[in-house]
Amino acid sequence: MKIAIVGITGVVGETIVRVLDERKVPCDELGAFASRARTEPFVFRGREYPIRAASRDALVTGGYDVVFFASSDDASAELAQACVDAGARVIDNSATFRLTDGVPLVVPEVNPGAIGPGDRLFPVANCTAIVLVVAIAPIYRLAGLRSVRVATYQAVSGAGRAGLEALEGEELGRDVPTPFVAPIFRNVVPQVGSLDENGDSGEEKKVAAETRKMLDAPELHVAATTVRVPVRRAHSEAIFLETARDTSVAEIAEALRNAPGVVFHEQGVVTPRDVEDDDRVHVARLRAEGDSKRHFQLWAVGDQLRKGAATNGVQILELLLERNVLV
Ligand SMILES: NC(=O)c1ccc[n+]([C@@H]2O[C@H](COP(=O)([O-])OP(=O)(O)OC[C@H]3O[C@@H](n4cnc5c(N)ncnc54)[C@H](OP(=O)(O)O)[C@@H]3O)[C@@H](O)[C@H]2O)c1
Repeated sequence: MKIAIVGITGVVGETIVRVLDERKVPCDELGAFASRARTEPFVFRGREYPIRAASRDALVTGGYDVVFFASSDDASAELAQACVDAGARVIDNSATFRLTDGVPLVVPEVNPGAIGPGDRLFPVANCTAIVLVVAIAPIYRLAGLRSVRVATYQAVSGAGRAGLEALEGEELGRDVPTPFVAPIFRNVVPQVGSLDENGDSGEEKKVAAETRKMLDAPELHVAATTVRVPVRRAHSEAIFLETARDTSVAEIAEALRNAPGVVFHEQGVVTPRDVEDDDRVHVARLRAEGDSKRHFQLWAVGDQLRKGAATNGVQILELLLERNVLV
């Protein structure tokens, strides 16, 4: 199988390569692409591959079975469809196609059945939405959901290498470029993405719309406040739920204990540092609001570079391999 990665020099691209290797995904040849060529080759499983500038020509003539995009919305908009037309399956980490009608938005633990036989283009959902949906899908299946409210605590690597470099540079007292709207070192920045006329950020709208799509719950009320914090890696979320039917902490705990991809912590806390490099979403601090049978709170943490991006994409590829739709 020939696999290309567009964005291999970025934090998601490099994580995709690691996850492919760890999970022993078959790969006879790797195509390594970035915005520009590099002199140093990329080494994968002992073999050197040149890092080339991504172009339609190079991707279309490369004969790739699978192309991962981990670059930018613009690059995916320009190049992904051409790869599909050339016969590849595309797994795309950008936001470009996530809400396109007829395009499945798949989290394998939640909605693997959304993949149809003819599908060739697979967006990977927003990293914050993936962590949220893995945590709440078992509760949705148990008791339905009327509303989901979430406040997030998002790692700087969610803004790519530039986010990591901004935090490191500020820590060292350097004057560095930053993707954030305010200093991030020893601070908290309550804006992720640009704000619209209503005051909602791009990230907040993605979380709401993508969560509804993945749960196939178009009427579900989802409200988010997304916040950047000076954590290197892993997003945390304080989640407030209203269920559609009466349930209890005991029933929800049981659902979470049995949920694929979830680690349920009965006691204590879990922090971003605890889950770095872990592919599962960790849930703690489950409780009811007073004696309510419909209002509950929980805390979820997940490594957004892995489950929120790279691992979810590789799991989609594994589903395609299981279904024998790839050579
Ligand atoms: N970071 C996360 O936690 C996360 C989570 C989920 C989804 N995503 C999405 O994943 C994608 C990659 O994010 P990232 O965080 O890995 O960013 P990043 O660290 O900034 O890396 C971006 C990568 O894309 C390449 N690139 C940029 N523009 C390109 C173009 N026009 N053509 C080809 N390659 C291009 C860059 O190449 P150069 O090195 O040559 O510039 C680099 O390899 C984005 O769509 C992002 O929204 C990120």
